[in-house]
Amino acid sequence: MKSRGEKITSLTAYDFPMTRLLDEAGIPLILVGDSLGMVVLGYPNTTHVTMDEMEHHVRAAARAKPRALLAADMPYRSYQTVGEAVANARRFVAAGAEAVKAEGGREIIPQVCAIVAEGIPFLGHLGMLPQHVLEEGGYHVKGKKDAEHQALLADADALVNAGAFAIVLELVTPPVAADLTRRIPIPTIGIGSGPDCDGQILVTPDLLGMLPWYSLKHVKPKLNAAEQMRAVVKEWKEGVEKK
Ligand code: KIV
Repeated sequence: MKSRGEKITSLTAYDFPMTRLLDEAGIPLILVGDSLGMVVLGYPNTTHVTMDEMEHHVRAAARAKPRALLAADMPYRSYQTVGEAVANARRFVAAGAEAVKAEGGREIIPQVCAIVAEGIPFLGHLGMLPQHVLEEGGYHVKGKKDAEHQALLADADALVNAGAFAIVLELVTPPVAADLTRRIPIPTIGIGSGPDCDGQILVTPDLLGMLPWYSLKHVKPKLNAAEQMRAVVKEWKEGVEKK
């Protein structure tokens, strides 16, 4: 798609109906993200998500048998060593995933090479890395300083050489995301990284307005699902109570 100049769209799903709906809408890349922890399981950040929880949701999403490529996110501390990375990536494939994603650049290259050598497609993730929220003390935009720009370029090149098929760029400054997109041969898929990536990914409940308790600069919900759900439930409740 990158070589044809076609924009790539990707969304997250965590269960059977959402995977099926996204697939029927023609989304080509569906990610069972570890955002699961925050948008479904109620954790304060993604560092609490376990392999067992991810696997349960990957299985549910895979039951939709999407035509889309189904990728699974490797959770916090599930790819610390090459052995763990390969074993956990295999677990996701056995659960129905067709690709895996993990956060990081040069520091995880041995793990990426081993996963790719297993024949498992690998999706990179650079920029703001949510699994590093505790060390970094928050979610910070990356690429503002020249040193960050150079580090992102080196990480992206390393992921390309290790065999990644695409790279998610999260909260990277738009000019740096555009520069990376021009320089690397594989697609960049941006989230909060400006319009010039090869594709865009969003956390589906953010797009649908299902989580009214916070707002994000980079997503303007296209639906107010939370409000509509509350109204429908209230109307149904009142209807039952009147009888
Ligand atoms: O976990 C997730 O949903 C992600 C996307 C934000 C890219 O990693």
